[in-house]
Amino acid sequence: MNLTLNSPLDMHVHLRQDDMLRFVAPFTAQQFVGAVCMPNTLPPVDRADRLDAYTASIRKAVGDLSFDPYVPLFFRDDLTREELTAMRDRLFGVKLYPAGVTTNSDAGVAELGKIEPVLDILQDLDLPLLVHGETNGYSHDREREFVAVYDHIATTFPRLRLIMEHISTVEAAEFLDKHDNVFATITLHHLCHTLDDVLGGPFNPFYFCKPILKSPRDRDALQSLVKAGHPKIMFGSDSAPHTEVAKRTEGAAGCFTAPVLLPCLAEFFEDHDLLDQLQAFVSDNAQRIYRLDPPRRDVVLEPRTWTVPPRYGSIVPMNAGAHLRWKVQNAPEE
Ligand code: NCD
Ligand code: ZN
Repeated sequence: MNLTLNSPLDMHVHLRQDDMLRFVAPFTAQQFVGAVCMPNTLPPVDRADRLDAYTASIRKAVGDLSFDPYVPLFFRDDLTREELTAMRDRLFGVKLYPAGVTTNSDAGVAELGKIEPVLDILQDLDLPLLVHGETNGYSHDREREFVAVYDHIATTFPRLRLIMEHISTVEAAEFLDKHDNVFATITLHHLCHTLDDVLGGPFNPFYFCKPILKSPRDRDALQSLVKAGHPKIMFGSDSAPHTEVAKRTEGAAGCFTAPVLLPCLAEFFEDHDLLDQLQAFVSDNAQRIYRLDPPRRDVVLEPRTWTVPPRYGSIVPMNAGAHLRWKVQNAPEE
């Protein structure tokens, strides 16, 4: 029997620019009717003109497919009330990267002590704050250490919707229920994998991402949220393409998961006897939390085995070579 998803959404994806954007965007737009397209481009999407240009380039890259790109503005601690108010109607939210914690985050926030005036404006304008929540500490502890920052923000700005992006730890999972205004995205790879997939055998750079994959205990905490049908979690793939060369020689962080997302999610939910909860995780929760009205389009998965190809162009996908049980209807044959 086919599996039909109504207006699935990917609430965190990197589509890049230029040729890479044109190449990867269709994988997302075939499977999702909308996506939060991250602004860590070069230069970052940190001003109104860049927001408009980037949104237009994504629309062009997806062609005729009904698809809404939701582009959050790259956080600047000198953002003004006038600037944000002027783009309020077409602004989805603002994405905060601490400086240096991940790919293309050099322009991120160097001093978290300076962000509060902007957070105050975001709260007033009812604009969500999306956060890459990692410190510059020891890699396994970066997200755990950042929970104190989340706590401070959520307490100081109780009407600000705060989205913890790609949570990966027990501590972040437990923090979710501490404040009404805190929500989270969860990736496929943090839900299904651990650090052993990177380091447990021969080093596998295609599972290397920020936040780094964690322990089975951390992974199980994310699975518990999903199994409980937690209403404050949303699917956000964090699909982050880098060329095979960049992954192998430059240590680029990011897993390219876009081609396999819905098939792998369906498999995970089916294996855990949760298929009836997939719709909420990949769309309904996000629509409610963000008050979205995405394009109405069904995406159909067929129970048909296929093999993930070793490469898509110059990019190695996560799960290359795996045999997957579900295939997206009308997806191109590899
Ligand atoms: C992302 C990228 O490559 O842009 N990398 C990653 O490891 N996830 C950035 C990010 O979301 O951290
Ligand atoms: Zn990301």
